[in-house]
Order: sequence, then C-alpha cells, then structure tokens
Amino acid sequence: MLGLGYVGRPLALGAAAAGYDVLGFDPAPGARESAEKAHAGGQGNFQACADPTQLAGAQTWLICVPTPLDARGRPDLTAVREALGIAARGLKPGALVCLVSTCQPGATNGLCRAVLEEAGWRVGRDVFLAVSPERENPGPHAPPTRSIPRLLGATDEASLRRGLAFWRHLVDRVEVVASPEVAECAKLLENTYRLVNIALMDELHAAFTALGVPTRDVVAAAATKPFGFSPFWPGLGAGGHCIPVDPAFLQMEAARSGAPSVLLAKAMARNRGRVARVLAQIRARLGDDLEGKRVLVAGVTYKPDVADLRAAAPLRLLRYLHDARADLAWHDPVVGIAPKSLAPMPRSAALTMPDGAQPEAIILGTPHRAFDLAAITRAAPLAFDPFGILPAGPSVIVV
Ligand SMILES: NC(=O)c1ccc[n+]([C@@H]2O[C@H](COP(=O)([O-])OP(=O)(O)OC[C@H]3O[C@@H](n4cnc5c(N)ncnc54)[C@H](O)[C@@H]3O)[C@@H](O)[C@H]2O)c1
Repeated sequence: MLGLGYVGRPLALGAAAAGYDVLGFDPAPGARESAEKAHAGGQGNFQACADPTQLAGAQTWLICVPTPLDARGRPDLTAVREALGIAARGLKPGALVCLVSTCQPGATNGLCRAVLEEAGWRVGRDVFLAVSPERENPGPHAPPTRSIPRLLGATDEASLRRGLAFWRHLVDRVEVVASPEVAECAKLLENTYRLVNIALMDELHAAFTALGVPTRDVVAAAATKPFGFSPFWPGLGAGGHCIPVDPAFLQMEAARSGAPSVLLAKAMARNRGRVARVLAQIRARLGDDLEGKRVLVAGVTYKPDVADLRAAAPLRLLRYLHDARADLAWHDPVVGIAPKSLAPMPRSAALTMPDGAQPEAIILGTPHRAFDLAAITRAAPLAFDPFGILPAGPSVIVV
C-alpha cells in the first residue's frame, strides 16, 4: 500500500480485515501513526513503514497517493510518479499494480504502463496493471469500504483476472469496465456531475433568494420526486481534495483532445468565485471597509462534521477577511489542533470573539451538526448564511 491518507488508510485496514498481510508505506509520520492507531486491536495483519524498500516482494501494490492541482491549476502527478517508481523497483513477477488515486484519462495505460515498462517489466505478462478509482466519502457516517461498489479497468485480460481476484475479497461488488480509460473517466464524471450541479445550485440559490423563496424549501420539495432529480443544496462552494480538483483532470484531457467543456469551465469558475461573491454581500451590509470589524466565522472545514481543511471554502473567506484587516476569529468544534496556516487568525472556543466580546457579524462557514443553529442567529446582530439553513429571524441574512 502506497499512501496511508484518507483513502489508503481504510483500504489498508479493509484489506487486513479481509485476510491480506498489509504493509503500508507513507513518508508522513502522522499518516503512519494514524493508520497504526486505527488498526490497533483491529482485524488482520497491518503494519506501517517509513522505508519503501520494505515493500519489496509484495504481491499487490495499491497507489493511494495525493493528486492535487499545482499553483497554476494543473494536475500534479508527482506523488503518483514517485509511488510507481517505488513499485517498479520492488515488484516481483506476478504482482499487480493498481492505481487507486484519481488521475486523468489515460494515466493507467500511459504514465503507469510507461514507468513499469521503463523498469523492464512486461505488463500483462510479468506484472499486471489495473485501475480502481476510489469512491470514499469520509465522515462520521461514511459507508464501510466493503459496501461501496468498485470500478475495475485493466490493461489486458490477465491483469483483469488478477485485479478481480484481489478486489473480490475486499468489497461486495466489483464492476468490471471495458478499459482503464472507462474507469478513469467514470470517476471524473462522478465528481464533475457534482461540481456542475453545485455551481447550478449556487446560481439558482441567488435567483431564489432574489425572488424571496427559500432555496432549501425548493430543493426539498423537488426532491420528493421519486425519479429524475437528485438534490444539491446551497453552500459556500465545493472544497476538499476531490470535487474542485477532479474536473480539472477531465478538462485538461478534453482540451488536449480538442473538446473542452464550456459548461464545465463555467462551473469551475462559478465555484472558484463563490466566496468572493459572499464577501461582496457581507461588505454590502457591513460596509466596504472591514478594518477593525469584529467578525466570527463558525465552521472552517470543507464539509460538515469532518476535520479536513483541504481547499476548504471557509479558509478562503478567512483569508479575504484577514487581508481586509477585519478583527477576525474562527470557531470550529470539529477541528482538533489548528494548522499553522490558521495561526494569524485567532481561534475562539465559543460563538464569541476570543476575549468574550460579541461579534458584529457571524458567518456560517460549515454547518456542523454540533452547532446549535438558533444560537448562531443570537450570537451577533448579523448572521450571514450561505447555506440557507439558519432559522429565519431579524439577524439572518441568506447570502
Ligand atoms: N479523500 C477523499 O475523499 C477521496 C475520495 C476519492 C478519491 N480520492 C483520491 O485518492 C487519492 C488519495 O487521496 P487522499 O485523500 O487519501 O490523500 P491524502 O493526502 O489524505 O493521503 C495521501 C497520502 O499519501 C502520502 N504520500 C505522498 N507521497 C507518497 C509517496 N510517494 N508514496 C507513498 N505515500 C505518499 C501522503 O503522505 C499522504 O499521507 C487522491 O488521488 C484523491 O483525489 C480521495
């Protein structure tokens, strides 16, 4: 197992519980410790290691490393290349390499195959290659890994047989698809579908709000239709490692093939601009000059009830407010130790400023279940609500 993060950890523990001897490599001590802690007293054999040469001779290699965007918004596959290099050096004949990380269409048959073949392996004969993109949904109510159907695409028949033999032990349902590219594109389609619908909901939320109709009531009503409609709810914009990132992988390859999606480009831009539009609405109420204004952001993670801050929209909001010299604080009962990037912004243990003063405005950043929504509406004279979820009242402004 290469990578013991949000995806690799549950997969490693699931494989151990299914009876495999699992050795997980991760360069980050924290990831290794979390995985070992999560396994303590659990089923099967699992160990984390800091030295990738210890993986040598493993029969199955799962690549679960990060695939972020670089500073210019382009997919960064550095970790995938590194992990494949480790695998190529440690493989033994008959081993399976399976790409689990989200990559662009063609990554398995292109990058992965090339790294293995450059190391002298004949794919489909000496070693086997497949892709099974992850569909993890982290959070307190995450479905068990075993219950989530896995897509499986392979470079050849022998690799497919080898992949099936592995994954069938681990999950209840494996959906074999015609090629690695189908599996890669399906994964990207899943998250592109979400991003486009989130962007659509963002636009319609503005329209419904302007019409004076509560968006959540509209969505809930539409969701009673038993077919042809999937609900999406208003928010502060999609964040995290996947939804804002994966569509860029698809768009990159679509553009390279001469067929970029105009709708997807607009959805990505709409999502990127959501926080700035919310800030403009806050400024319209609080005044253009936010310097010294006491503002509290309640909830700073990318989704409710999860302590993951990666690409979280509330963090962008905090940065804008910080740059505008607001007297700023944040409160989040879900976040454990605050990351260094949040150090310049004081944390508050309650819905007040750190010194106990009442904020002039509170902004709901992430609607964690732990929040008492009514208490948020009472915590400040103005409560900005990008989710349309706070109980209506004189202080509440849906943005
Ligand atoms: N988090 C999710 O909900 C989710 C869901 C579906 C798919 N994915 C995809 O799965 C992949 C992994 O995502 P994640 O959320 O687990 O990321 P993560 O950052 O939580 O974990 C990745 C781990 O890989 C380690 N790593 C980095 N380089 C490595 C290397 N060369 N060898 C071994 N380990 C290395 C990191 O230290 C980290 O612990 C990404 O492609 C992501 O898009 C994530």
